[in-house]
Formats: sequence, C-alpha cells, structure tokens
Amino acid sequence: MGNSAQERSLPYVPDCYVVPPSCEPRDVLNSNSEIVPTIDISRLRSGDVERREVIQELSLACQQFGFFQMVNHGINQSILDGALVVAKAFFELPAKEKMKFMSNDVYAPVRYSTSLKDGLDKIQFWRIFLKHYAHPLDRWIHLWPQNPPQYREKMGKFCEEIRKLSLEIMGAITESLGLGKDYLSSRMDENGMQVMAVNCYPPCPEPATALGLPPHSDYSCITILLQNLAGLEILHSTDHSGAGHWVLVPEVKGVLKVHIGDHVEVLSNGLYKSVVHKASLNEEKTRISLASLHSLGMDEKMSVPNQLVNDENPPRYRESSFNDFLDFLVKSDISQGDRFIDTL
Ligand code: SIN
Ligand code: FE2
Repeated sequence: MGNSAQERSLPYVPDCYVVPPSCEPRDVLNSNSEIVPTIDISRLRSGDVERREVIQELSLACQQFGFFQMVNHGINQSILDGALVVAKAFFELPAKEKMKFMSNDVYAPVRYSTSLKDGLDKIQFWRIFLKHYAHPLDRWIHLWPQNPPQYREKMGKFCEEIRKLSLEIMGAITESLGLGKDYLSSRMDENGMQVMAVNCYPPCPEPATALGLPPHSDYSCITILLQNLAGLEILHSTDHSGAGHWVLVPEVKGVLKVHIGDHVEVLSNGLYKSVVHKASLNEEKTRISLASLHSLGMDEKMSVPNQLVNDENPPRYRESSFNDFLDFLVKSDISQGDRFIDTL
C-alpha cells in the first residue's frame, strides 16, 4: 500500500494493472467539441425565454449523453487554477505525508488511496486519489490536508463555488423534468453531500494497456469535473442496447464538465441516463482531475417522483441512498465496471 507502481515510476506496466479486453481503451472517437453538448450557463440566468431554451438543450444532453460541458458558468479562472495547483502539490508531497490520510475505509470522510480498494481489487488502476467530504465546509475542512499550506483555502473556495453551481444545475434539471426548480435544491442545500475526488494519473509507460479508472457511472445526482488534460472518455450510446462508442472529451481551459449520475437517472425514471465513463492515461504528462459529487444526504433515499409515473409509465427503479451505495461498494468488486443501480 502507498508504494504503488505509479509512484515508483516503473518503465513498464505490471500485470496487475493490465485491463482485460472488455475494458481496454480502444474504439475511442477523438471528438471535436461539437460532438459533446456544450451549454452556455449564463443563459440560464437571462430572461424566461432564454432560460427555457437552455433548459431544452440541457434536457436533450441529459437524454442523449448523460453528460454536458459548461461554459460561461461564472466561476473565476483563478479559483479553478488555484484548486488544480494545490491538488498537484499534494500529490507531489513525500509519500510519508500522504500516508497520513491512507485508508481503505470507504466511509472515511478523508481518504487517500492508490486504487479503489487497495490490495483487494482484482485489477489495479493507474490512479492515486484523495477523497474528502466538502459540505458543510466548516464541518470537514479541519480534517483536510494542511500540506501544501494553501490546500484548505484554495480547495475550500473551489468547493464552495462548485457547490453553488451544482444547486443551480440541479434546479435546471428538476425544472426540465417538470418538477420545478426547487424540487431538490433546498434539501441538497441543507443536508446534501458533496464529496470531492481529487485524482492524479501519473504518466503511464504503456497507456493502452492500463486504465486510470474503469468504466463506471457515478453514484451521485450530478458530478462536476475539472481537469488539466484530456483523458475523460464517455460512452455514447445511440440506442438502448448498451452498445456505443467511447468519446474522448476534449480539454478546453475553463470548461467544466457535468456527469449525470445514477440518482438523476432514478429521479427521471430513466429518461436521463447516468453516463458511463472512464479515465484513460497519458504517456508523458500527469493528469489531475477534480470530481465534485453532489447527492442527497447520506441516508436520504432517492425515489421516482409520483408526478412522473402513471399506468403507462410505472416506476422503473427501487429507491436508494448514498449509504446504500457505500454498503454495496464494500461488498462487491466494482473494479470491473459494475454499476449500482437498482431497477424494478
Ligand atoms: C470520474 O470518474 O468522475 C473522474 C474521471 C476523470 O478523472 O476524468
Ligand atoms: Fe466517475
């Protein structure tokens, strides 16, 4: 533990990192940004007509991709850059310093690790990460790393801004489903979870044989993602067979990405799809990604709203909470791409 292949900069990929063919990073469509939906968030804040138009675009993106990019979101570039800088500086600390946070306990509010479940996963992933709770900030920030010295300040500011944006996006999502913009946002504001996954993918000598993260969907309502380099790939399916192709999401400075998570799939009774995605690797550069996961409170169940069901369209999902997902994670081996979503 803590002395992983990535951290030792091996010139080859050890067998335990080699992914089976079903997960291999092939068939990537090197997309240009036109293929991936991009939404101008400032238009959500304009008049009613523009808001309705943007909500239409957002609804389409959630149905077709379960994913979109946000431009003109209003978060200052210096806040985004600051968070990326302290994240990178954390991973550059001596192993001893990072080991203070090492844990295999998926319930731990602050946790550093080098695989999904260190020593237990059948396949290892080329990633080191720090996960920490971020809302309410004053409850958790004192547990975060004090090194690098600006970590708490810069990451804290980033988390606060991203959380405000997440509530606005959740409002637009529930409005797009005809539930009104306040359907979940006040519950999420008061008790909602925000979990920051701060990911580091060191250069990989043979990027085609390993993966940073296996295909999965996020167990959140939404995840907002910032990255310093391309590497995120999303599965774009054009039918319901589950088949599709991988699209490498291009990196454009300042753009934030949104994954629709399992809980919005449940909320929409399957109209919106939680996006299957994975992290591919770079031969030369270290990739950093900051994934902010937003969901209801730890024990609050997400269920299909009564307003969205009738005889022709019965509920398709069982209710579940974030805690149910953590219990599932402890018991199962999701390192091979399983997805926790409980259909009826
Ligand atoms: C994630 O699974 O949300 C993070 C993937 C990435 O690093 O792009
Ligand atoms: Fe994810």
